[in-house]
Amino acid sequence: MKILVIGSGGREHALVWKLKQSPRVSEIFCAPGNAGIGMLATNVPLPISDHAGLVKFARAEGIDLTVVGPDDALAAGIVDHFEHAGLRIFGPAQAAARLESSKVFAKEFMQRHGIPTAASGHFTDSTAAHRFCQTSRYPLVIKADGLALGKGVIIAQTPWEAAQAVHTIMEERRFGAAGDRVVIEEFLTGQECSVHALVDGEHYMLFPAAQDHKQIFDGDQGPNTGGMGTFSPPDKLVTPEIVERIHREVMEPFMAGLKKDGLRFRGLLFPGLMITAEGPKVLEFNCRFGDPETQVLLPRLRNDLAELLEATIDGKLDTIQPAWDPRAAVCVVMASGGYPGSYSKGKKITGIEDAEALEGVTVFHAGTQWDDEKNLITAGGRVLGVTALGAGLGAAQARAYEAVERIHFEGATFRRDIGAKGL
Ligand code: AMP
Ligand code: GLY
Repeated sequence: MKILVIGSGGREHALVWKLKQSPRVSEIFCAPGNAGIGMLATNVPLPISDHAGLVKFARAEGIDLTVVGPDDALAAGIVDHFEHAGLRIFGPAQAAARLESSKVFAKEFMQRHGIPTAASGHFTDSTAAHRFCQTSRYPLVIKADGLALGKGVIIAQTPWEAAQAVHTIMEERRFGAAGDRVVIEEFLTGQECSVHALVDGEHYMLFPAAQDHKQIFDGDQGPNTGGMGTFSPPDKLVTPEIVERIHREVMEPFMAGLKKDGLRFRGLLFPGLMITAEGPKVLEFNCRFGDPETQVLLPRLRNDLAELLEATIDGKLDTIQPAWDPRAAVCVVMASGGYPGSYSKGKKITGIEDAEALEGVTVFHAGTQWDDEKNLITAGGRVLGVTALGAGLGAAQARAYEAVERIHFEGATFRRDIGAKGL
């Protein structure tokens, strides 16, 4: 089977790495890919937004299955384009991907189907939004409706901050059309976790949970990023009782809701959850693999990923028995100095081979490329996801940081406490 993976981050490197281990897979292409992906697959220099070009490539190359990484491709309807052309592709069609691309749509879905989430209102008119902020309790969370690279969520401590947030999103239109509507919701307290489930429309397969570290600095300080590191499993937070509640209160009503609304969803659902004193509540739905969650989940997956993705498309997830490595995994993201603000590129990266010589260590590339002299250089904000398996969380964490110490590039920035909240 020939596979095309779409995307260029650490998530896509992990997908390619895992698919490469499948005896069903003969060849992998990745558009556009990165330097690490290029060592396992053939990189195809087509932008993610060029659906027509990607369809043409998949036809010409005889691709049997395409796997979509990023949310914006799903929101733009890449799955619909491929299916119209008669091509097999993993991911929800545009109508179902609205669960991620519109927070208003997701909130209404949750309210209609009894899925626990923060109480909220939504507004198309900034005057009404401002009025609502004046009469609410604080802190208050203001969210742009559409995709905004993870930056469209503002936590306001005071009515003044809330007014600023509404102004930024709706009047200044910092996130463009994503800010045509806002969701304003109650602030939830608790710890967050990331849940992944393959969904074939009839059945779902829940993965072990993971925890992300969104803020740039240790102790969850500083601005949010795309994710500075992950670990799995977070057993202290996601106890067997919580897992049971995720099945009953989130996944089962989600599946029933898809049916009632006539939404066809075949792909990966990743609800971001807040584990509150009252139980799990959904902060958001993502309709794709998480980044850097994928970098700790796939090294723990024992099944053939190609088989799982095909079973999802074919509605046969019930025929597969999931198997997971009981070891823990920790992924530490190494980022460019200055990220998530501005940063420079082109810094030479060394030591990856030494890091991977350590048992259980895999280094997933994100923003990397080769320069003209065949040096590996930085090419993005998040550069590498250094992942280690270990007998327990402590062992995995120690091994991941041992690996990080072996890797060097100018300005390298990483958190030193990935996994600490799970110990
Ligand atoms: P979202 O894109 O909706 O997941 O929001 C991004 C981040 O904002 C989440 O990962 C949380 O850290 C935070 N957040 C979002 N909604 C809430 C909420 N209702 N209460 C507390 N924190 C929130
Ligand atoms: N790590 C969070 C996300 O992929 O959205």
